[in-house]
Amino acid sequence: MKTLFTNLNEGHLEFIFGLTKLMAEEKDAHNILDVLLAQLIEITGAEVGAFVFYDSVSDAFKVKRIKNLNNKNDGDTYFSETVFRRILKEREAILTFDTSEDGDYAGIKSVEINKIHAILAFPLEVKNELYGIMYFDSRENRQSFNEASRQLLSFFAPIASLTLEQALSAKEITAENIVLKSQLDVHSKLPRMIGDSDIMRQLTRLVTKVAPTDVSVLITGENGTGKDLVARAIHELSSRKDKAYIAQFAGNIPSSILESELFGYKKGAFTGANSDKPGLFEAVNGGTLFLDEIGELSADLQTKLLRVLQNQEIKRLGENTVRKIDVRIIAATNRDLQKMIHEGTFREDLYYRLNVITIVTPPLRERRSDIPLLANYFLKEGLNNPKLQITQKAIKKLMGYNWPGNVRQLENLIKRAAILSNDDTITDEDIIFDENENSFNGTMEEYKNRLISERVKEFNGNKTLAAKSLDISLRSLQLKAKELGI
Ligand SMILES: Nc1ncnc2c1ncn2[C@@H]1O[C@H](COP(=O)(O)OP(=O)(O)OP(=O)(O)O)[C@@H](O)[C@H]1O
Ligand SMILES: [Mg+2]
Repeated sequence: MKTLFTNLNEGHLEFIFGLTKLMAEEKDAHNILDVLLAQLIEITGAEVGAFVFYDSVSDAFKVKRIKNLNNKNDGDTYFSETVFRRILKEREAILTFDTSEDGDYAGIKSVEINKIHAILAFPLEVKNELYGIMYFDSRENRQSFNEASRQLLSFFAPIASLTLEQALSAKEITAENIVLKSQLDVHSKLPRMIGDSDIMRQLTRLVTKVAPTDVSVLITGENGTGKDLVARAIHELSSRKDKAYIAQFAGNIPSSILESELFGYKKGAFTGANSDKPGLFEAVNGGTLFLDEIGELSADLQTKLLRVLQNQEIKRLGENTVRKIDVRIIAATNRDLQKMIHEGTFREDLYYRLNVITIVTPPLRERRSDIPLLANYFLKEGLNNPKLQITQKAIKKLMGYNWPGNVRQLENLIKRAAILSNDDTITDEDIIFDENENSFNGTMEEYKNRLISERVKEFNGNKTLAAKSLDISLRSLQLKAKELGI
């Protein structure tokens, strides 16, 4: 057996000291992963490095950080699931000098893996469970990892695991298993949330479990599905419930104004800054800040928000003083952030920060069985007529509808019907669906795009007629349609 570290040179030792020190000082799990990844890529000469999170709940591997020095699009980088599975099973570092010859990998039929020349990977364990995998490989340049790389890895694997375990607060670890545990929990109710369908019970359990943990939550769902209600429920069921809760809409607001709202400013920081003003982060200190329509944040603000999440500190505009804050961030969006990441318009690192847990509010059409309950609730709520009723036929009509505007649309419809009905009974004739109810709060650009797609569909793909009806030239419609892929 070889003695350990025979192949390490002075540079390696320096590296070990430096990295160990860095890790000892770094308290944040995400930063530790970043540092490890960058440094190990450098010292091993790997072309691709990644941190792969293991989601024990869904038994899936999620590549959370990638560095691909071959300048490939990160999203296109191929990884071998077989390698991940092997580490999950054996919990040991993997080192191959040449995957095309190594007997261990000869059995893997995948053509893709043959493109990977050499692999170095080791497990990160937290509380004896696989937390994730640090992964490195070499492909295009086809260089092998040497014995020193293996020794470095065997040295860093346990240290990295330990540091990570310490850095991940107990709460954060729990968060990752919440989904699983929540399935075992008894049903409870959320404030103001109506619904008894399985899907709503599931949502309730998840919210109840997530609320006390203090982790960042990302709420996604169509318009009018109750994202605001969920955010507020999380706050009210958390230990921050007696502190402030502030909701801030991030869409349709110029970036500079939103920035001064959030961060505050010093007198004279810009024209019109006539006095010092604390921002929302300070105002909500100790409590919860709900950032609605997070997908609309400018690139600049995305970076600034990431920093707040990393350090829990802010600087007012025009000021150098750093202020410590303690704020739980809940974010919401009805946009596809994964797609935005792919298109390069949303920061991936910010996404993972915000999205320790994702809560999806289901569209109403996926929980039609809740419609009678909701209809009766809105009928009684806010209308001063306790005698008001709704016929079975009317309920049936409501249940057959598609609800593009979800609960908000239902709420508005019931309230309007209640006002318009001649007596104390709402019949199916009082139910009038209005598609425009699907209130839109995206950007102007999105609104235009949506209008164009809808109009083209309405005219069965006849662009000439669609353009005519929109009073725009056929050419500009064609350009737009091409851009939208319709
Ligand atoms: N489960 C529910 N029970 C009772 N009311 C609900 C429920 N879900 C939504 N609502 C009501 O529907 C309306 C819209 O809900 P909310 O504002 O939370 O939706 P949202 O998902 O934030 O929509 P948007 O994306 O348009 O901001 C509100 O008046 C809310 O009270
Ligand atoms: Mg909302």
